[in-house]
Amino acid sequence: MERGVTLGRMDSLLKDWDGETVIVRHDKPSGAWIFIAVHSTRLGPAAGGTRMKAYPDVQAALLDALRLSEGMTFKFAASGMPFGGAKAVVAIPGNLERESRTALLQRYGALIRQLGGLFRTGPDVGTTPDDMDVIATTGAPYIVSRTVGAGGAGDPGPLTARGVFTGIKLLCGRLFGVESVSNRTVLVQGAGDVGGSLIGMLREAGAEVQFSEVNDGLIRTFRDELGLRYVHPSATYSTECDIFAPCALGAVLNAETIPRLKCRAVAGSANNQLETQADAERLRAMGILYAPDYVINAGGVIGVLGMELQGWTRDKADGEVVANIRRNLDQIFESAAAEGVTTDAAARKLADSRLFGAVSR
Ligand code: PHE
Repeated sequence: MERGVTLGRMDSLLKDWDGETVIVRHDKPSGAWIFIAVHSTRLGPAAGGTRMKAYPDVQAALLDALRLSEGMTFKFAASGMPFGGAKAVVAIPGNLERESRTALLQRYGALIRQLGGLFRTGPDVGTTPDDMDVIATTGAPYIVSRTVGAGGAGDPGPLTARGVFTGIKLLCGRLFGVESVSNRTVLVQGAGDVGGSLIGMLREAGAEVQFSEVNDGLIRTFRDELGLRYVHPSATYSTECDIFAPCALGAVLNAETIPRLKCRAVAGSANNQLETQADAERLRAMGILYAPDYVINAGGVIGVLGMELQGWTRDKADGEVVANIRRNLDQIFESAAAEGVTTDAAARKLADSRLFGAVSR
């Protein structure tokens, strides 16, 4: 009975998804579920990060893969890159011992190799360039963002942060007339790989940075060692700031949180920040300018894929990330204003024009 109900929900998840293919593996030795969701190969081979964490149930893991893969399709399309969108979720049962984690990653790599190029992957929440090195032992040549020592481009976090920082400055220009974060308050939610790097850039440029975090180690580093103002997670949404930068998990902008926001703009690196499409309208109604997540957070993929597949240097990658995100956000803000639509709708239109060749206005 219970099994029937479970499968029933999984089937409706797949029916409601407009992507192409999902590869499912139940990894017996570890008990992990692996979902590789290939949303679209329209613009090229599908690529996307590997998210590895524990989920409340297997449906939640599948749903995450499905939603995130769609975001990757829009990310590549909006940034004009010749890749399709995909995402892998490795749903682990709690914490794995080091050896079983390594063995799981190697079996996962072998699965990617079997797919023969249908899917390429890099790091995402819960995985690192070191993990990519392990996955690549069985999954090469389809693994990107390996460590620099192993010949990869290394951590995409700082490149993603560079793009978000660019977007935040651009927003300041639109909102306050000066493209600078100097003396602006920015609240960064999540001081992890991207958030932590973004905090560094913001501070160096003279912003007043506050952060919210749940990890004790990171709270200690940023609050106690660096002296940043710490905002308790329960107060994150209602804290007054110029820019709110979600750099943790998805769906943080929703019917419950948006009415509490006291910021002028939202610009962060998290994927799938809007819980539903209606949330874009909610933000607009509150006069909050939203930098669409998959546009502003494309720095990691732009930089890493450019370095690994087109031979860019790190400096060239930084420059391209800045130029690309500037151009796309400018175009999106302009067309949203001109057409009276949300920035999310304008971003979607830009992505659709690249995907389906419609004329973009
Ligand atoms: N986490 C990255 C993203 O969401 C995925 C990625 C990083 C893919 C680097 C390839 C290379 O965009």
